[in-house]
Parts: sequence; C-alpha cells; structure tokens
Amino acid sequence: MILITGANGQLGTELRYLLDERGVDYVAADVAEMDITDAEKVDAFFADVKPTVVYHCAAYTAVDAAEDEGKELNYKINVTGTENVAKAAAKYGATLVYISTDYVFEGQKPVGLELEVDEPANPQTEYGRTKRLGEEAVEKYADKFYTVRTAWVFGNYGKNFVFTMQNLAETRDTLGVVNDQFGRPTWTRTLAEFMVHLVETKQAFGYYHLSNDSEKGISWYDFAKEILKDKDVTVNPVSSDQFPAKAKRPLNSTMSLAKAKATGFTIPTWQEALEAFYKQGK
Ligand SMILES: NC(=O)c1ccc[n+]([C@@H]2O[C@H](COP(=O)([O-])OP(=O)(O)OC[C@H]3O[C@@H](n4cnc5c(N)ncnc54)[C@H](OP(=O)(O)O)[C@@H]3O)[C@@H](O)[C@H]2O)c1
Repeated sequence: MILITGANGQLGTELRYLLDERGVDYVAADVAEMDITDAEKVDAFFADVKPTVVYHCAAYTAVDAAEDEGKELNYKINVTGTENVAKAAAKYGATLVYISTDYVFEGQKPVGLELEVDEPANPQTEYGRTKRLGEEAVEKYADKFYTVRTAWVFGNYGKNFVFTMQNLAETRDTLGVVNDQFGRPTWTRTLAEFMVHLVETKQAFGYYHLSNDSEKGISWYDFAKEILKDKDVTVNPVSSDQFPAKAKRPLNSTMSLAKAKATGFTIPTWQEALEAFYKQGK
C-alpha cells in the first residue's frame, strides 16, 4: 500500500489526484489522521497500513514564521516528524520519498552556475536547517529512500507565488518584483509525477533535484512577467533590498536537473508547466 503524509497540502493533494487518475490505491493522511510529531501514532498508523511506499509531503513550510514565532513547531514537524516517519518506514520496510528544498544550500553561487546533488549543504534559515536535519534523519534511519529537493513550488491546491501575483494584479496597475534572486519554478504536477517515476522505475536510492526546466535560472521578475503576460499590469524589476524578509532568501538556488533527466524522466519547461497548470485549474 502507498501512504501519503501531508496529503491535504499543496503537493499532497496533487499527488492524490495523480494517483486517482492512474487508478492507484493509497492511504492519505494529514495531521488529523496521523500527526507526524507523535511517534506512537506514527508507529500505530504504519502498523495498520503496512505501507510499501511512503510519499512524505507533510512539512512546516512558513519560512519567515520559522525564524521566530514558528521556530519550535518548525523543528517539531520538520525534524522530529521526519525522524518519526523515517524510523517507521525502516521498521515496516517501506521505501521513503522525502521532499526537501533549495533552502538547504547557502544560495550564493554565481548566477549562471547550478547546484549539483552532491553540493555541500549550508542552510541559512531555520526552515532550511530543519529541512537539512530532516534529510540527515532520512539518511540515518531509512534503508530505502529518495530525497527530492525542489524549489519555487506552485500548484492549484495551495498558496503560492502564481496566485499571489494574480491577486495583486487585480488591485494594482504596477508591481515591483525582485530580479536579483535566481532559481527555477516547480509545478506540483511535475514533482508528483517525478516522485512516482522514481519509485515505479526503481531508480537508484539517494538525492535528486527537481524543478521545471529552463536553459538557465530565472528571476522572480521573469516568472512574474510570464504569469501576468495577459493582464493589464506593469511589472517592474526591483532589488531584494526593497523586500526585507525575516528569513534570508537564496540569491541563486538554481539546481542542476542532470540527475533527474538521466533517469529518463521528461521535464517540461516552466512555461509549459504554467500553461498546463492554468488548464488544470479551469
Ligand atoms: N512550497 C514551496 O515552495 C516548497 C519549496 C521547496 C520545498 N518544499 C517542500 O515540499 C513539500 C510539500 O510542500 P507544500 O507546498 O505541499 O506544503 P504545504 O502545502 O504546507 O503542505 C504541508 C502539509 O503538511 C501538513 N502538516 C503540517 N503539520 C503536520 C503534522 N504534524 N502531521 C501531519 N501533517 C502535517 C499540513 O497541514 P496544515 O496545513 O493543516 O498545517 C499540510 O497539509 C514540503 O516538504 C516542503 O518543505 C516546498
């Protein structure tokens, strides 16, 4: 049986719909069914479901709140919770697919260069540190694991940059968007398909990077321009100084897709993904 944690989140929901379409059975659990911070509940849930595959989508994802008021909860969910899931996956012999983030990296690579999967981690934020500790827990406890680092996630089932830009465009004539932070957007559908692909085609266990494709990293400004290309709004490039945030943002977290592509998975470009995301949402 397949088990999805965080099944009501942005990625978990996409994954459920993907498996529904493909007629694949699964058990969906969010915090109400299996609070991952409760080791006993996790163990009991695994004992009942006996999963062979666990898609671990549950996480604390409020990056700025994690710096102060959410600090403890961020640790509890992303570290203790992931440890509990990894231990249970090992105990019941399940393959674990853990989702991590570009925030595990320092984010200071010169623009134009990409982060390989074996690049040393050096997180700069509380969220990044806990996601890295989650990666370490997965390596330590799970026998069979895929850790997929992703970034700039958007999908039809949660809050994200695409919806934020669209909402802002409803009430403003001009928008300033940062053009000095580089990376690649990821549609939840592409990520969900990749997670299933890794398991179904029995790829080598270990680390992978996955986003949508582009020739090189793009800026949030580039992304916003494409999102709003048919809207009556002017998008202006601005520097990060104009958007102070509690959690430091990576300047360049463009991750190499070479390893993901070498598995035979075809990665749509981010523009193709955005088009398909719009169609899906209609
Ligand atoms: N969003 C991004 O841009 C981004 C970028 C890089 C990596 N990621 C990673 O991608 C993965 C999926 O992210 P997402 O965007 O789908 O996040 P999300 O929408 O915030 O979903 C996370 C889900 O986990 C649930 N959850 C929280 N605490 C839990 C607990 N104690 N036990 C069980 N479930 C719990 C949440 O429930 P509540 O909503 O009720 O709290 C939510 O349904 C995460 O690992 C995240 O770190 C995301």
